[in-house]
Amino acid sequence: MRFFVDTADTGAIADLAATGLLDGVTTNPSLILKSGRQFLDVVREICALVDGPVSAEVVALDHATMMKEADVLRKIAANVCIKVPLTVDGLKTCKALTSEGTSVNVTLCFSANQALLAAKAGATFISPFVGRLDDNGFDGMELISDIRLIYDNYAFETEILVASVRTPVHVLAAAKIGADVLTAPPAVIHALFNHVLTDKGLAGFEADWQKSGQSIL
Ligand code: E4P
Repeated sequence: MRFFVDTADTGAIADLAATGLLDGVTTNPSLILKSGRQFLDVVREICALVDGPVSAEVVALDHATMMKEADVLRKIAANVCIKVPLTVDGLKTCKALTSEGTSVNVTLCFSANQALLAAKAGATFISPFVGRLDDNGFDGMELISDIRLIYDNYAFETEILVASVRTPVHVLAAAKIGADVLTAPPAVIHALFNHVLTDKGLAGFEADWQKSGQSIL
């Protein structure tokens, strides 16, 4: 499973990139607002930090303007992935861009039928929002299972990018289902490293090593 980080905070991205475990980045207009920075500058900086796909979202609602925005965004760097909403115009834009060889992430997916349409439109990634589904009384992970089944039934190449991830429990569930990619806020990714027994075990080993009076270097 590949890990993307869902943020426009370039400091947090640089920290995670340094682990060697970061495979890409997703942004959205809300994350750009939170960063307080200019969208195009942030995307340019992120693309220089990370080799993998960097999702940059169009904000127009109509196909023609989405195409113009996508054209600006994809010129920023070779690893820009254009993010489009799951609407009729968004999927028209997806089809046009992927036909030209541009990578596309279809976002705001909340149903398996929407995911089916995105795959038919040639999406590189489909982003089902599990957290927002859970928040609204639906089962986000059931959607991931349904999409996995449908995509496997028809051998669609669209990758399932689990989005709106809130906790490490989401990460584990998505991995068990066989989702291709997951995007999560920096704090959720950092939480994956931690276990109380790791901390306790390490403290014990450190204490015993001190008592031994030895050194490796
Ligand atoms: C995905 O690409 C979205 O940016 C993101 O996962 C949305 O998450 P949220 O529901 O926490 O805003």
